[in-house]
Amino acid sequence: MRTVTTRSELRAAVAAARGRGARIGLVPTMGYLHQGHLSLVDAARAAAGPQAFIVMSLFVNPLQFGAGEDLERYPRDLPRDAALAAGRGVDLLFAPTVDQMYPAGEPQVQVVPGDMADRLCGAFRPGHFRGVLTVVAKLFNLVGPDLAAFGRKDFQQAVLVRRMVRELDFPVEIVMGPTAREADGLALSSRNIYLAPADREAALALFRALSAARDVFALGQTDPGHLLTAARDVLDAEPRVKLQYLELVDPESLDPVQTADARSVMALAAYLGPTRLIDNVVLGG
Ligand code: PAF
Repeated sequence: MRTVTTRSELRAAVAAARGRGARIGLVPTMGYLHQGHLSLVDAARAAAGPQAFIVMSLFVNPLQFGAGEDLERYPRDLPRDAALAAGRGVDLLFAPTVDQMYPAGEPQVQVVPGDMADRLCGAFRPGHFRGVLTVVAKLFNLVGPDLAAFGRKDFQQAVLVRRMVRELDFPVEIVMGPTAREADGLALSSRNIYLAPADREAALALFRALSAARDVFALGQTDPGHLLTAARDVLDAEPRVKLQYLELVDPESLDPVQTADARSVMALAAYLGPTRLIDNVVLGG
């Protein structure tokens, strides 16, 4: 695996791979890699086929952090990430500085999403998805991938990236990888490292709550009120969980559903101490 830090090195390395007939798969990350990121490498490689050339970007994007969020303390460990990426078969690691990505400071031109970005997480993180889509669009332009892989855990992000690709005609196939979980159900996140032991234990209530709703749906319940109550009861029983939102939405429009079906997505965000976690499930599994 080669690591590059500049846009010109990145473009040259990708052009050389393309010249050899490679299909380029991109896995955008903010680093501090876990098995979820690494499974996206597998997904990108499988989708790209035998001529795959996998580029992973590793960049903590300041544009997507709001005031008072964890930009400064977001975990960073390039040597660790490089070893993990190389071990999983990444071909090219792009680890730029902020100056390299935004040489003129905050870009004057950004990708501004519509009101789908103001729901769910976006309601509590104004500007977050503008920052995400802007950096993803920039990475698509720098790498020119045939496909790019995003994790299901960041469900709203994946939906908005898909929408951007469709509506702005990026020639990129989007591959969505499943949420990777610890054996006890906690969704993997780079932010899990912040959790104090008691909060780590309490955080199990998140997936338990979503699973409870899924169980009730499996018994035939399609009323959103009942399904949300099944999940909220589990969350309410865990006082360390400070729920930010719990919603049952359509997977394309992100609108709240009137009647649940197997495609409906239950999504939540909650604080455990100072740490904000998100999770979601598709009701039909
Ligand atoms: O999901 C993430 O880690 C980030 O939001 C992404 C897609 C790499 C953009 O910075």
